Amino acid sequence: MDGRRHIQQEEELKRNRYLIALLAVLAMLIAACSPADEGSDTTEGTDTTTASPDTTEGPTETTEDMTSTTGATGEGITVGVSWNNFNEPRWANFDKPAIIEALDASGAEYIEADAGSSAEQQLTDVENLISQGADVLIILAQDGTAILPAVQNALDQGIPVIAYDRLIENPEALYITFDNIGVGTLMAEVIYELVPEGNYAVIKGNQADANADFLREGMEVVIGDAVAAGDITIVCEEYTDNWDGAIAQTTMEQCLTDNNDDLDAALVENDGMASGVVAALASVGLDGQIPVSGQDGDTAALNRVALGTQTVSVWKDARLLGQAAGEAAVQLAQGAALGDVSGVIDFESPGGNTMTTILLDPTPITQDNLNLVLDAGWIDEATLCQNVESGSVEACP
Ligand code: BGC
Repeated sequence: MDGRRHIQQEEELKRNRYLIALLAVLAMLIAACSPADEGSDTTEGTDTTTASPDTTEGPTETTEDMTSTTGATGEGITVGVSWNNFNEPRWANFDKPAIIEALDASGAEYIEADAGSSAEQQLTDVENLISQGADVLIILAQDGTAILPAVQNALDQGIPVIAYDRLIENPEALYITFDNIGVGTLMAEVIYELVPEGNYAVIKGNQADANADFLREGMEVVIGDAVAAGDITIVCEEYTDNWDGAIAQTTMEQCLTDNNDDLDAALVENDGMASGVVAALASVGLDGQIPVSGQDGDTAALNRVALGTQTVSVWKDARLLGQAAGEAAVQLAQGAALGDVSGVIDFESPGGNTMTTILLDPTPITQDNLNLVLDAGWIDEATLCQNVESGSVEACP
């Protein structure tokens, strides 16, 4: 009997120990799942070593401080922006602040790198942004081809990529831009109406930027037939390294020399280069005599439009582009598919990719509608009308 009882007691003890162990495990499990643990969530967003997008965090946040128009809360999301340079004023004055504003509105963090016009540096920049914890990338590519491995590498790590303003031929990237073919068409329409026949110079942007050819394609829609018919002769046509205004000036000086100043119009692909072209024309007394185009709505260019030395600047409200990219970045970091981003369409790229794209509309600004940029708060009257004879244009009374 004693022996049996002893065995029974031993078995009871074992059972109890087993139960205690089981309870301990249960208690640990319950503790792990309890809401008390959420307190540590506050540190999660600042873990900058996390490279993959956190798709669960945003939706569990309160919606109180949610001011983004997309309704996305971006707490804990880091957006890495890779700029190729800040040469044109638009990038620092309009694009960047608009991206930051959109991210601020949703609580997402902004980090950036500036490649200083080096395609090679930009590859390193993208790597660095990822190691600094970027959950999503916005890339303004210096060279749309050279950047491809860095983009693929990011995508392979589950980091969404936005091709900002300039095409990157990877259909897994979201492409957010203005209608660049439309920009070329609009500038050519204004110039062609004034000069339906004669000698044209075409000053194109950086060859490694797909926008240079998109713009040229848009021009062709307008002048193609007149060129074929011999009414228009393109006497010079050049790409311009890095969209550099000084290089554009040299190109135009050479063009004038080669043609004995016999030039009737200059289709110039952006305002920075138009500045160089107008300087070249001024050096032979032809500024204000030959229609010149540009794009961006640079303040100096809009002033030239008011003065009459530049005919048109196709204005792209870069604030809208920056906002669209900032909002889309947050959505993508939260796991939205490209097709779920608001306002996307399909765009067939020259490389044969169907790009999921947000395409914004450009607006040509001439002396007749300078009020648009004033009303939009893009430029103030004093800047627009500097040295402009009072009353010579409606916007400068
Ligand atoms: C942009 C233009 C800009 C140019 C130079 C192009 O890709 O579309 O707005 O002027 O780059 O920065």
